[in-house]
Amino acid sequence: MCGIVGYIGKKEAYPILMGGLSRLEYRGYDSAGVSLCDDKGIRTYKRQGKVADLALFTTGKDVSGAVGIGHTRWATHGEPSDRNSHPHVSQDGSVAIVHNGIIENYRQLRAELERNGYRFGSDTDTESVAHLIEHIGKKTGVTFPEAVRLALREVVGAYAIAAISTNDPDIVVVARKGSPLVVGIGDGEFFIASDATAVAEYTRKVVYLDEGEMAVLKRGEDLLVSAIDGREERNPVITEIEAELESIGKEGFEHFMEKEIFEQPKTILDSMRGRLDPETGEVRLGGLRDHIDRLAEADRIIFVACGTSFYAAILGEYLIERYAGIPVEVEYASEFRYRHPLIRKHDFVFAVSQSGETADTLAAIRLAKESGATVLGICNVVGSSIARETVAGIYTHAGPEIGVASTKAFTAQVTVLSLITLALAKRRKTLSDTELIRLAKELLAIPEKVKTALAKREECKEIAKEIAKSGDAFYLGRGVCYPVALEGALKLKEITYIHAEGYPAGEMKHGPIALIEDGTPVIAVAPESETHDKIVGSIQEMKARRANVTAVVTEGDTATAALADRSISIPVADEFVVALLAVIPLQLIAYHTAVTLGRDVDRPRNLAKSVTVE
Ligand code: F6R
Repeated sequence: MCGIVGYIGKKEAYPILMGGLSRLEYRGYDSAGVSLCDDKGIRTYKRQGKVADLALFTTGKDVSGAVGIGHTRWATHGEPSDRNSHPHVSQDGSVAIVHNGIIENYRQLRAELERNGYRFGSDTDTESVAHLIEHIGKKTGVTFPEAVRLALREVVGAYAIAAISTNDPDIVVVARKGSPLVVGIGDGEFFIASDATAVAEYTRKVVYLDEGEMAVLKRGEDLLVSAIDGREERNPVITEIEAELESIGKEGFEHFMEKEIFEQPKTILDSMRGRLDPETGEVRLGGLRDHIDRLAEADRIIFVACGTSFYAAILGEYLIERYAGIPVEVEYASEFRYRHPLIRKHDFVFAVSQSGETADTLAAIRLAKESGATVLGICNVVGSSIARETVAGIYTHAGPEIGVASTKAFTAQVTVLSLITLALAKRRKTLSDTELIRLAKELLAIPEKVKTALAKREECKEIAKEIAKSGDAFYLGRGVCYPVALEGALKLKEITYIHAEGYPAGEMKHGPIALIEDGTPVIAVAPESETHDKIVGSIQEMKARRANVTAVVTEGDTATAALADRSISIPVADEFVVALLAVIPLQLIAYHTAVTLGRDVDRPRNLAKSVTVE
């Protein structure tokens, strides 16, 4: 997490840095800061709070300078506070750095530096690197870039950093290992950011630094990169980015999350565009072209993911096992890495990730690669670390997701997983052509049906008013609606701070039903499906304990609706695709509950969009 930005060129750096920080605020918003450099020295301004608080703080101050770096923080080491905010400046004020990641050996570095007379002003891991660069520069007399290189060789952990120095005020040094970093190439100028959306306003030409690389940015000169562990410089690969700036605005919606919920008819369609032939049921997944035949023969597919992406992966498991007949396992990436899993050479490991930067998921695929498995990706962010570290994969094409709570990325992932299911079923002949065509048509009909589900907004608002009065809520589902229940509960927790549990409905009687009392809110995800009768039974059990039940039902299912205290209907759809509809009211309920409670919907407390730390 954390977002870093930088600029070197002929323009004033401050507005560019602040614009970039606003775009990266989804990565963390515990504090924000900038350092500007010219022959007068380095001026640093930093503040606990959001980028807007920093803007207020800098009003009337000297923010001139055509070289600068900036940071928006998601706290890891040290509480959110002014003194723990970045940039961190070295003892004599000659070096300022911003950092995204975690320095694992910072305690040793700090102890060593303290023995050499350095005084620390913060509790962060990052400050040690600022002092270390100064210390090495003084001790060895090397240039500023070489001091950065030598310092980083002593650092253990993950980082993307940008550093400036009064010893060489006309350069910015950047480096990355484990955290993302993009350099935008302008006309004699460079833009630095944690992701490409923050530079897209100025340039479409970017260089993604590779693992363990650094670069020295000098205005008017070509960009050269080198390995931190080497010295040899090379011309980097320049990539043209496609990010549409318009799609990064709120477009009249009050929050990004709201906009992203309502974008879903389009984003689901975009995920399928050009990939599915309704006449033949044929699926074309260009990214998997060279692997799909082998994948169809796989003994086992393993999905690794976190959070919402993990729930999408569970849906993938249910679909692929049922319709394509391949055994699937779904693993929390954070557990997979440390539980000594048995990964075999002929396993296929799929990383599912919106950002493509989640540290746990990245670490899991690196482990899978070491074990010789074929590692594939389902990512939303083009050019992200996971997209680049997998041998092949599929982009979800949902467009930039800015709201911290994932919505359109989830439905895009589920759409892509449904496409993979059809592609595998076709090759394995587990579905007849008639069935394939029928399911393909069901999938293609989803965007229009999502519009109908979204039109139930006012009813969701009323339900939200009820839930907003509660301290907790239960979300129940079975079969493909179980991961939907998990996702509904996660959405509520994240943005309303109301305690919520997602459960497979059949498990309630094995313990959690003890928590149900008069008025406990229960949201039962109960559209028509193979397990419909079972969830109806669960609704009755909940009502018998006087729970306050909201049922998500298929249009026309008045019998189930009558059992609940209130219901919300979704269009008729096959079980193969029904999760894509059932999740919509749950997203709307969470959103409106958060609005009712006055929560900061797009920036919920303690969270950040991209979890680039372990
Ligand atoms: C929840 C949410 C998170 C992410 C998780 C994985 O709304 O956004 O749970 O799903 O942090 O992130 P990605 O998909 O970027 O790997």
